[in-house]
Amino acid sequence: MGEPLILGLETSCDETGVGIVRGGELLANEVASSVDEHVRFGGVVPEVASRAHLQALRPTLQRALAAADVDLSELDGIAVTAGPGLMGALVVGIAAAKALALATGKPLWGVNHLVGHVGVDILDHGPLPEPSMALLVSGGHTSLLRVDDLTRSITPIGSTIDDAAGEAYDKVARALGLPYPGGPVIDAAAAEGDPKAIRFPRGLTSRRDLERHRFDFSFSGLKTSVSRWVETAELEGREIPVADVAAGFQESVADVLTAKAIDACTEQQISTLVIGGGVAANSRLRSLLAERAAQAGVEVRRPRPGLCTDNGAMIAVVGARLAAAGIAPSGLDFGADPGLPVTRISI
Ligand code: KG4
Ligand code: ZN
Repeated sequence: MGEPLILGLETSCDETGVGIVRGGELLANEVASSVDEHVRFGGVVPEVASRAHLQALRPTLQRALAAADVDLSELDGIAVTAGPGLMGALVVGIAAAKALALATGKPLWGVNHLVGHVGVDILDHGPLPEPSMALLVSGGHTSLLRVDDLTRSITPIGSTIDDAAGEAYDKVARALGLPYPGGPVIDAAAAEGDPKAIRFPRGLTSRRDLERHRFDFSFSGLKTSVSRWVETAELEGREIPVADVAAGFQESVADVLTAKAIDACTEQQISTLVIGGGVAANSRLRSLLAERAAQAGVEVRRPRPGLCTDNGAMIAVVGARLAAAGIAPSGLDFGADPGLPVTRISI
Protein backbone atom coordinates (compact mmCIF):
# COMPACT_ATOMS: atom_id res chain seq x y z
CA MET A 1 0.00 0.00 0.00
CA GLY A 2 1.25 3.52 -0.84
CA GLU A 3 -0.02 6.39 1.24
CA PRO A 4 -3.27 5.12 2.82
CA LEU A 5 -6.56 6.64 1.64
CA ILE A 6 -8.61 7.17 4.81
CA LEU A 7 -12.09 8.47 5.55
CA GLY A 8 -12.51 10.19 8.93
CA LEU A 9 -15.76 10.84 10.81
CA GLU A 10 -16.01 13.27 13.73
CA THR A 11 -19.17 13.75 15.82
CA SER A 12 -17.92 14.34 19.37
CA CYS A 13 -19.57 17.72 19.93
CA ASP A 14 -21.57 20.08 17.68
CA GLU A 15 -19.72 19.67 14.39
CA THR A 16 -20.45 16.81 12.01
CA GLY A 17 -17.14 16.39 10.20
CA VAL A 18 -16.20 14.12 7.32
CA GLY A 19 -12.68 14.27 5.98
CA ILE A 20 -10.69 12.29 3.44
CA VAL A 21 -6.89 12.18 3.34
CA ARG A 22 -4.24 10.30 1.44
CA GLY A 23 -1.39 9.99 3.95
CA GLY A 24 -0.61 13.59 4.90
CA GLU A 25 -2.52 15.09 1.98
CA LEU A 26 -5.94 16.65 2.51
CA LEU A 27 -8.47 15.64 -0.14
CA ALA A 28 -11.75 16.74 1.46
CA ASN A 29 -12.93 18.34 4.67
CA GLU A 30 -16.69 18.87 4.93
CA VAL A 31 -18.23 20.15 8.15
CA ALA A 32 -21.88 20.73 9.11
CA SER A 33 -22.22 22.69 12.35
CA SER A 34 -25.27 22.71 14.61
CA VAL A 35 -23.96 25.78 16.48
CA ASP A 36 -26.92 27.92 15.36
CA GLU A 37 -29.31 25.51 17.05
CA HIS A 38 -27.49 25.97 20.38
CA VAL A 39 -27.25 29.77 20.31
CA ARG A 40 -30.43 30.44 22.27
CA PHE A 41 -29.28 28.07 25.01
CA GLY A 42 -25.87 29.73 25.30
CA GLY A 43 -24.03 26.43 24.97
CA VAL A 44 -24.14 23.00 23.32
CA VAL A 45 -27.26 20.96 24.17
CA PRO A 46 -26.20 17.28 23.84
CA GLU A 47 -29.56 15.96 22.63
CA VAL A 48 -29.85 18.67 20.00
CA ALA A 49 -26.28 17.94 18.84
CA SER A 50 -26.97 14.19 18.52
CA ARG A 51 -30.06 14.72 16.38
CA ALA A 52 -28.22 17.20 14.19
CA HIS A 53 -25.45 14.62 13.61
CA LEU A 54 -28.05 12.07 12.51
CA GLN A 55 -29.45 14.49 9.97
CA ALA A 56 -26.13 15.85 8.73
CA LEU A 57 -24.02 12.71 8.47
CA ARG A 58 -25.18 11.30 5.17
CA PRO A 59 -25.21 14.56 3.20
CA THR A 60 -21.84 15.56 4.68
CA LEU A 61 -20.37 12.18 3.72
CA GLN A 62 -21.72 12.53 0.18
CA ARG A 63 -20.21 16.01 -0.14
CA ALA A 64 -16.82 14.79 1.09
CA LEU A 65 -16.72 11.84 -1.31
CA ALA A 66 -17.70 14.12 -4.18
CA ALA A 67 -15.15 16.80 -3.23
CA ALA A 68 -12.35 14.22 -3.07
CA ASP A 69 -13.68 12.39 -6.11
CA VAL A 70 -13.37 9.14 -4.19
CA ASP A 71 -15.62 6.08 -4.12
CA LEU A 72 -16.05 4.19 -0.83
CA SER A 73 -14.64 1.08 -2.52
CA GLU A 74 -11.28 2.84 -3.05
CA LEU A 75 -10.67 3.54 0.66
CA ASP A 76 -7.92 1.77 2.58
CA GLY A 77 -9.69 2.34 5.87
CA ILE A 78 -12.09 4.34 8.01
CA ALA A 79 -11.40 6.27 11.21
CA VAL A 80 -13.94 7.64 13.67
CA THR A 81 -13.77 9.63 16.89
CA ALA A 82 -14.22 7.17 19.78
CA GLY A 83 -13.89 9.83 22.51
CA PRO A 84 -13.61 12.04 24.45
CA GLY A 85 -16.85 13.91 23.79
CA LEU A 86 -20.59 13.80 24.33
CA MET A 87 -21.84 10.21 24.61
CA GLY A 88 -24.95 10.64 22.44
CA ALA A 89 -23.02 12.54 19.79
CA LEU A 90 -20.11 10.07 19.64
CA VAL A 91 -22.49 7.13 19.27
CA VAL A 92 -23.95 8.54 16.04
CA GLY A 93 -20.56 8.75 14.32
CA ILE A 94 -19.42 5.38 15.61
CA ALA A 95 -22.60 3.65 14.44
CA ALA A 96 -22.23 5.22 11.00
CA ALA A 97 -18.55 4.28 10.78
CA LYS A 98 -19.25 0.67 11.78
CA ALA A 99 -22.02 0.43 9.20
CA LEU A 100 -19.67 1.75 6.50
CA ALA A 101 -16.88 -0.60 7.60
CA LEU A 102 -19.22 -3.58 7.60
CA ALA A 103 -20.71 -2.72 4.21
CA THR A 104 -17.34 -2.09 2.54
CA GLY A 105 -15.18 -4.60 4.42
CA LYS A 106 -12.65 -1.83 5.21
CA PRO A 107 -10.66 -1.74 8.47
CA LEU A 108 -11.93 0.67 11.13
CA TRP A 109 -9.96 2.60 13.76
CA GLY A 110 -11.63 4.29 16.76
CA VAL A 111 -9.49 7.39 17.27
CA ASN A 112 -8.88 9.79 20.16
CA HIS A 113 -10.32 13.23 19.37
CA LEU A 114 -7.49 15.09 21.12
CA VAL A 115 -4.87 13.26 19.08
CA GLY A 116 -6.77 14.44 16.01
CA HIS A 117 -6.31 18.07 17.11
CA VAL A 118 -2.56 17.43 17.41
CA GLY A 119 -2.10 15.45 14.19
CA VAL A 120 -4.14 17.67 11.89
CA ASP A 121 -1.26 20.10 11.47
CA ILE A 122 0.50 17.42 9.40
CA LEU A 123 -2.00 18.28 6.63
CA ASP A 124 -0.81 21.89 6.57
CA HIS A 125 2.85 21.74 7.57
CA GLY A 126 4.06 18.18 6.98
CA PRO A 127 5.29 15.57 9.47
CA LEU A 128 5.38 16.70 13.09
CA PRO A 129 8.85 16.73 14.65
CA GLU A 130 9.04 14.28 17.55
CA PRO A 131 9.04 15.18 20.33
CA SER A 132 6.66 18.12 20.01
CA MET A 133 4.56 19.94 22.58
CA ALA A 134 0.86 20.48 21.84
CA LEU A 135 -1.40 23.13 23.34
CA LEU A 136 -5.06 22.27 22.75
CA VAL A 137 -7.52 25.02 23.57
CA SER A 138 -11.21 24.73 22.70
CA GLY A 139 -14.67 24.86 24.20
CA GLY A 140 -14.19 21.40 25.66
CA HIS A 141 -10.49 21.05 26.36
CA THR A 142 -7.39 22.85 27.55
CA SER A 143 -4.35 20.60 27.59
CA LEU A 144 -0.61 20.56 27.20
CA LEU A 145 0.60 17.30 25.70
CA ARG A 146 4.05 15.91 25.06
CA VAL A 147 4.05 14.02 21.76
CA ASP A 148 6.87 11.51 21.40
CA ASP A 149 5.10 9.44 18.77
CA LEU A 150 1.69 10.41 17.40
CA THR A 151 0.62 6.78 17.04
CA ARG A 152 2.23 5.34 20.17
CA SER A 153 3.21 7.81 22.86
CA ILE A 154 1.44 10.95 24.04
CA THR A 155 1.88 12.17 27.61
CA PRO A 156 -0.35 14.74 29.32
CA ILE A 157 1.75 17.51 30.88
CA GLY A 158 -1.07 19.68 32.19
CA SER A 159 -4.76 20.48 31.76
CA THR A 160 -7.50 22.68 33.14
CA ILE A 161 -8.69 21.88 36.64
CA ASP A 162 -12.08 23.53 35.98
CA ASP A 163 -13.38 25.36 32.87
CA ALA A 164 -11.87 24.99 29.41
CA ALA A 165 -10.44 28.16 27.84
CA GLY A 166 -13.22 28.42 25.23
CA GLU A 167 -15.83 27.77 27.90
CA ALA A 168 -14.49 30.79 29.80
CA TYR A 169 -14.86 32.89 26.64
CA ASP A 170 -18.43 31.69 26.22
CA LYS A 171 -19.35 32.40 29.87
CA VAL A 172 -17.72 35.84 29.92
CA ALA A 173 -19.52 36.70 26.68
CA ARG A 174 -22.78 35.85 28.37
CA ALA A 175 -21.92 38.04 31.37
CA LEU A 176 -21.27 40.91 28.96
CA GLY A 177 -24.53 40.31 27.08
CA LEU A 178 -22.65 39.15 23.97
CA PRO A 179 -23.82 36.19 21.82
CA TYR A 180 -22.61 32.56 21.82
CA PRO A 181 -20.01 31.40 20.88
CA GLY A 182 -18.16 34.05 22.81
CA GLY A 183 -14.63 33.63 21.45
CA PRO A 184 -14.90 35.48 18.14
CA VAL A 185 -17.05 38.32 19.56
CA ILE A 186 -14.78 38.91 22.56
CA ASP A 187 -11.76 38.78 20.27
CA ALA A 188 -13.35 41.49 18.10
CA ALA A 189 -14.51 43.60 21.08
CA ALA A 190 -11.07 43.37 22.70
CA ALA A 191 -9.47 44.84 19.61
CA GLU A 192 -11.21 48.15 20.48
CA GLY A 193 -10.29 48.03 24.18
CA ASP A 194 -7.30 48.66 26.43
CA PRO A 195 -5.90 45.37 27.80
CA LYS A 196 -4.31 47.27 30.71
CA ALA A 197 -7.44 49.18 31.79
CA ILE A 198 -8.61 46.38 34.10
CA ARG A 199 -6.28 43.72 35.44
CA PHE A 200 -8.01 40.39 35.97
CA PRO A 201 -6.38 37.48 37.88
CA ARG A 202 -4.10 34.92 36.20
CA GLY A 203 -5.22 31.42 37.29
CA LEU A 204 -2.70 29.04 38.92
CA THR A 205 0.28 31.36 38.57
CA SER A 206 1.05 32.21 42.21
CA ARG A 207 4.25 30.71 43.55
CA ARG A 208 2.27 28.26 45.70
CA ASP A 209 0.02 27.18 42.84
CA LEU A 210 3.00 26.72 40.53
CA GLU A 211 4.49 24.19 42.95
CA ARG A 212 1.55 21.84 42.41
CA HIS A 213 0.08 23.05 39.13
CA ARG A 214 2.97 24.38 37.08
CA PHE A 215 1.43 23.29 33.78
CA ASP A 216 -2.25 23.19 34.78
CA PHE A 217 -4.83 25.86 34.03
CA SER A 218 -7.83 27.34 35.83
CA PHE A 219 -10.27 29.79 34.27
CA SER A 220 -13.18 29.56 36.69
CA GLY A 221 -11.81 32.23 39.06
CA LEU A 222 -11.16 34.57 36.14
CA LYS A 223 -14.71 34.12 34.87
CA THR A 224 -16.13 34.85 38.35
CA SER A 225 -13.89 37.89 38.69
CA VAL A 226 -15.12 39.31 35.39
CA SER A 227 -18.77 38.62 36.31
CA ARG A 228 -18.32 40.37 39.69
CA TRP A 229 -16.66 43.36 38.06
CA VAL A 230 -19.58 43.70 35.63
CA GLU A 231 -22.19 43.25 38.38
CA THR A 232 -20.58 45.87 40.59
CA ALA A 233 -20.40 48.37 37.75
CA GLU A 234 -24.07 47.72 36.98
CA LEU A 235 -25.10 48.17 40.63
CA GLU A 236 -23.25 51.46 40.70
CA GLY A 237 -25.13 52.52 37.58
CA ARG A 238 -21.96 52.81 35.47
CA GLU A 239 -21.92 52.02 31.81
CA ILE A 240 -19.98 48.79 31.16
CA PRO A 241 -16.81 49.42 29.14
CA VAL A 242 -17.33 46.17 27.17
CA ALA A 243 -14.21 46.57 25.03
CA ASP A 244 -11.93 47.13 28.04
CA VAL A 245 -13.45 44.23 29.99
CA ALA A 246 -13.05 41.96 26.94
CA ALA A 247 -9.45 43.10 26.41
CA GLY A 248 -8.54 42.65 30.08
CA PHE A 249 -10.08 39.18 30.18
CA GLN A 250 -8.43 38.14 26.92
CA GLU A 251 -5.06 39.40 28.13
CA SER A 252 -5.31 37.16 31.21
CA VAL A 253 -6.20 34.07 29.13
CA ALA A 254 -3.48 34.66 26.54
CA ASP A 255 -0.88 35.50 29.18
CA VAL A 256 -1.43 32.28 31.14
CA LEU A 257 -1.77 29.98 28.11
CA THR A 258 1.39 31.27 26.43
CA ALA A 259 3.48 31.46 29.61
CA LYS A 260 2.69 27.88 30.59
CA ALA A 261 3.05 26.46 27.07
CA ILE A 262 6.48 28.05 26.60
CA ASP A 263 7.53 27.02 30.11
CA ALA A 264 6.55 23.42 29.27
CA CYS A 265 8.63 23.52 26.07
CA THR A 266 11.63 24.90 27.95
CA GLU A 267 11.35 22.46 30.83
CA GLN A 268 10.97 19.48 28.49
CA GLN A 269 13.59 20.82 26.07
CA ILE A 270 11.17 20.74 23.16
CA SER A 271 11.52 23.25 20.34
CA THR A 272 8.23 22.73 18.46
CA LEU A 273 4.85 23.82 19.81
CA VAL A 274 1.73 22.92 17.84
CA ILE A 275 -1.53 24.64 18.80
CA GLY A 276 -5.07 23.58 18.01
CA GLY A 277 -8.73 23.90 19.00
CA GLY A 278 -11.13 26.81 18.39
CA VAL A 279 -9.31 29.20 20.76
CA ALA A 280 -6.10 28.80 18.72
CA ALA A 281 -7.76 31.25 16.30
CA ASN A 282 -7.56 33.98 18.98
CA SER A 283 -5.64 37.01 17.77
CA ARG A 284 -4.03 37.92 21.11
CA LEU A 285 -3.05 34.33 21.84
CA ARG A 286 -1.31 34.19 18.48
CA SER A 287 0.55 37.50 18.77
CA LEU A 288 1.70 36.93 22.35
CA LEU A 289 2.71 33.35 21.56
CA ALA A 290 4.72 34.48 18.53
CA GLU A 291 6.55 37.00 20.73
CA ARG A 292 7.31 34.64 23.61
CA ALA A 293 8.12 31.64 21.39
CA ALA A 294 10.65 33.69 19.44
CA GLN A 295 12.33 34.73 22.70
CA ALA A 296 12.48 31.11 23.85
CA GLY A 297 13.62 29.72 20.50
CA VAL A 298 10.43 27.69 20.03
CA GLU A 299 8.81 27.20 16.63
CA VAL A 300 5.01 27.51 16.68
CA ARG A 301 2.88 25.50 14.26
CA ARG A 302 -0.79 26.25 13.83
CA PRO A 303 -3.05 24.68 11.23
CA ARG A 304 -5.39 26.94 9.24
CA PRO A 305 -8.51 27.95 11.24
CA GLY A 306 -10.78 25.44 9.45
CA LEU A 307 -8.55 22.62 10.69
CA CYS A 308 -8.21 24.05 14.25
CA THR A 309 -11.90 23.58 15.01
CA ASP A 310 -13.49 20.12 15.10
CA ASN A 311 -13.45 18.37 11.71
CA GLY A 312 -13.23 14.93 10.11
CA ALA A 313 -9.86 15.42 8.41
CA MET A 314 -8.12 15.49 11.80
CA ILE A 315 -9.50 12.03 12.53
CA ALA A 316 -8.68 10.77 9.04
CA VAL A 317 -5.04 11.89 9.29
CA VAL A 318 -4.59 10.04 12.59
CA GLY A 319 -6.19 7.00 10.94
CA ALA A 320 -3.68 7.29 8.10
CA ARG A 321 -0.77 7.44 10.57
CA LEU A 322 -2.11 4.42 12.47
CA ALA A 323 -2.51 2.46 9.24
CA ALA A 324 0.99 3.42 8.07
CA ALA A 325 2.46 2.48 11.46
CA GLY A 326 0.85 -0.95 11.29
CA ILE A 327 -1.34 -0.39 14.38
CA ALA A 328 -4.12 -3.00 14.43
CA PRO A 329 -7.63 -1.74 13.55
CA SER A 330 -10.20 -1.52 16.37
CA GLY A 331 -12.65 -4.04 14.89
CA LEU A 332 -16.40 -3.55 15.18
CA ASP A 333 -17.08 -4.16 18.85
CA PHE A 334 -15.79 -1.02 20.54
CA GLY A 335 -18.04 1.62 22.08
CA ALA A 336 -17.92 5.36 22.60
CA ASP A 337 -15.81 6.48 25.54
CA PRO A 338 -16.77 10.04 26.63
CA GLY A 339 -13.78 10.15 28.98
CA LEU A 340 -11.18 8.47 26.77
CA PRO A 341 -7.74 9.46 28.15
CA VAL A 342 -5.34 11.03 25.68
CA THR A 343 -2.83 8.26 26.34
CA ARG A 344 -5.17 5.96 24.42
CA ILE A 345 -4.51 7.08 20.87
CA SER A 346 -6.76 4.48 19.31
CA ILE A 347 -9.27 2.27 21.05
O1 KG4 B 1 -12.58 23.53 18.73
P1 KG4 B 1 -13.95 24.14 18.80
O2 KG4 B 1 -14.60 24.59 17.53
O3 KG4 B 1 -14.97 23.16 19.47
C1 KG4 B 1 -14.75 22.48 20.65
O4 KG4 B 1 -15.07 23.06 21.70
O5 KG4 B 1 -14.25 21.33 20.60
O6 KG4 B 1 -13.83 25.36 19.81
C2 KG4 B 1 -14.93 26.20 20.10
C3 KG4 B 1 -14.50 27.23 21.12
C4 KG4 B 1 -15.65 28.10 21.61
O7 KG4 B 1 -15.63 28.11 23.03
C5 KG4 B 1 -15.35 29.47 21.03
O8 KG4 B 1 -15.81 30.52 21.85
C6 KG4 B 1 -13.84 29.44 20.94
O9 KG4 B 1 -13.52 28.12 20.56
N1 KG4 B 1 -13.30 30.37 19.95
C7 KG4 B 1 -12.47 31.40 20.26
C8 KG4 B 1 -12.22 32.11 19.05
N2 KG4 B 1 -12.89 31.47 18.04
C9 KG4 B 1 -13.54 30.40 18.62
N3 KG4 B 1 -11.96 31.79 21.44
C10 KG4 B 1 -11.17 32.87 21.44
N4 KG4 B 1 -10.90 33.60 20.35
C11 KG4 B 1 -11.39 33.28 19.13
N5 KG4 B 1 -11.11 34.02 18.06
ZN1 ZN C 1 -12.22 19.45 19.72
